[in-house]
Amino acid sequence: MAARLSDAWLDELRSRLNIVDVVSEYVPLKQKGRRYWGLCPFHNEKSASFSVDADAQMFYCFGCHKGGTAIHFVMELERMEFIDAVKLLAERARLELPRDQGGGSGASRTLKERVYEANQLAARFYHDAIWQSGGAHALAYLHKRGLDDADVRRFGLGATGASWDALTEHLIAKGFSEEELIQAGLTVSKNGRRYDMFRERVIFPIISAQNRVLGFGGRAMGDGTPKYLNTADTPVFNKRQGLYAMNMVRNERGLKRLVLVEGYMDVVSLRARGVEGVVATLGTALTSEQARLIKRYVPEVWVAYDGDGAGRQAILRALDIIAELGGIKARVLNFPNGQDPDDFVRERGLEGFHSLKPMDPIDYRMQRAADGLDLSTQEGRTEYAIVCCNLLKAVDSPVELDGYLDRLRVETGFEKDVLMRQVGAAVRQIPQSAAPRGAPRRVVAKLNEVDKAQHELLALLAGRMIEPSTVSERDFDDPLSRKLAGLLLSGIPPAAALDALPEEERAAAAQALSLEVMPDERNALDAAEECLKVIRRARMEDELERLTQEVALPGIAPERKMELLTKITELTKAKGMA
Ligand code: UTP
Ligand code: MN
Repeated sequence: MAARLSDAWLDELRSRLNIVDVVSEYVPLKQKGRRYWGLCPFHNEKSASFSVDADAQMFYCFGCHKGGTAIHFVMELERMEFIDAVKLLAERARLELPRDQGGGSGASRTLKERVYEANQLAARFYHDAIWQSGGAHALAYLHKRGLDDADVRRFGLGATGASWDALTEHLIAKGFSEEELIQAGLTVSKNGRRYDMFRERVIFPIISAQNRVLGFGGRAMGDGTPKYLNTADTPVFNKRQGLYAMNMVRNERGLKRLVLVEGYMDVVSLRARGVEGVVATLGTALTSEQARLIKRYVPEVWVAYDGDGAGRQAILRALDIIAELGGIKARVLNFPNGQDPDDFVRERGLEGFHSLKPMDPIDYRMQRAADGLDLSTQEGRTEYAIVCCNLLKAVDSPVELDGYLDRLRVETGFEKDVLMRQVGAAVRQIPQSAAPRGAPRRVVAKLNEVDKAQHELLALLAGRMIEPSTVSERDFDDPLSRKLAGLLLSGIPPAAALDALPEEERAAAAQALSLEVMPDERNALDAAEECLKVIRRARMEDELERLTQEVALPGIAPERKMELLTKITELTKAKGMA
């Protein structure tokens, strides 16, 4: 996204912003030394671990590890996309947007803006239609499914009648070209004729957290196929990225969890009965992008899919996606008798919903592990125990593990120490296959020290406490540190470097740049030298370790052995001097 705004323009914006002022509008800050400190707005805390560095123009929380520039701060707090945060900050800094962004007229506006406008008008058109005679059928259908007029209004639900092209003609009359409407996925063209994409359907507008209409889901009334038709991918809609009802989440402050369901109808039905924070995927299985979106809003998500076989499979996949992402807790809501959330809440109401116990993912996976096994036989119990022990290797807490083992003992009849050994066997399989062969433990432990040294160098560079010539990109091992070093060494200020990094790398980069380092310049140089020493020594040790292992290989050629021994001697000497 940043690519559409020129670097020069962004530099100008950054030069006009002071992150201390921006943050101070939301968080009271106190200066202590080089930094400003306050209570972190992104997690609950009693003592300040949220820091703002005026020199580097970045923030970092030592508690929850969020960090970045003024732009990221606004993105996180206002839950905005990069471009919208930039617009807000530009307005505050009285900097005009470049011509092709936002302002401008007709022709100069991007296709994206045109698609948003067409969608907005289409949503209005569909919604108006539901109150007219042509939409009576759709309205009756929604009433029959337990919704009232207020629900229909709140979700902006709409109707399309039997007409082939009412929407298309409406929007053409408003000045949109056929091509724009096709790009927006509202119109299809076939054999030289144009038709509306959605006909005789109930329309669910899909609206982003920024209140923009991204696309639509359309449900057939009765047995029409497909049951749901969704907007195809357009310049503003990607079914793998958004979630249904994010516009509502935006206004639900203080949410502790989101409820993730499969269907648009489930969202509407649960919310209509008072369940908060309900969202749905857009006709596909949960993607990691969507999980990341959820994680931006809440620390926990309840997977509330249909209770049937397909739903169960989908739950396991969603749990995998969420676990892979990490940093967000998952729970499962298990609906009885194969019901879906809509069926359940219509039968049992909000109270019924609150009486459901969100299950721990391990519990849920253990429950699923028993599917298809006959636990009344020894074979069934054995297989169940092995599968469960495999699952339990993911449990870090010994106390929790003990609880699960108790339960497994009762279910399978195996003694706890036997089960524990089985978990241990499962655990041991992992490092053996995953760790690179011959990587000695000592070196792994050292890596932390090396990482720290590299981060300290980065922080010294970012604070302009050492000359760029003191270090080189080659002093950095891990790809992110090296990338950051490259950016800083080429003279790019830390804030611009952070803005240039993708979201996944930002927290780690902010952490590296925020490491507490030496205050005055002479000390800074000493500190840098110390870091370089640590890095060089560690490298020599790694190299030594590698050579020593090769020397010990059976059947090694005598010449190679001599060569290795010479190298080892040289390295050992060099290390002594380093
Ligand atoms: P469901 O079939 O469970 O629909 O599909 P639902 O939302 O519960 O709707 P009702 O209660 O039958 O009216 C779940 C979701 O899968 C996608 C839609 O996003 C739907 O909301 N889907 C389903 C499609 O994209 N196409 C289809 O043909 C069916
Ligand atoms: Mn349903």
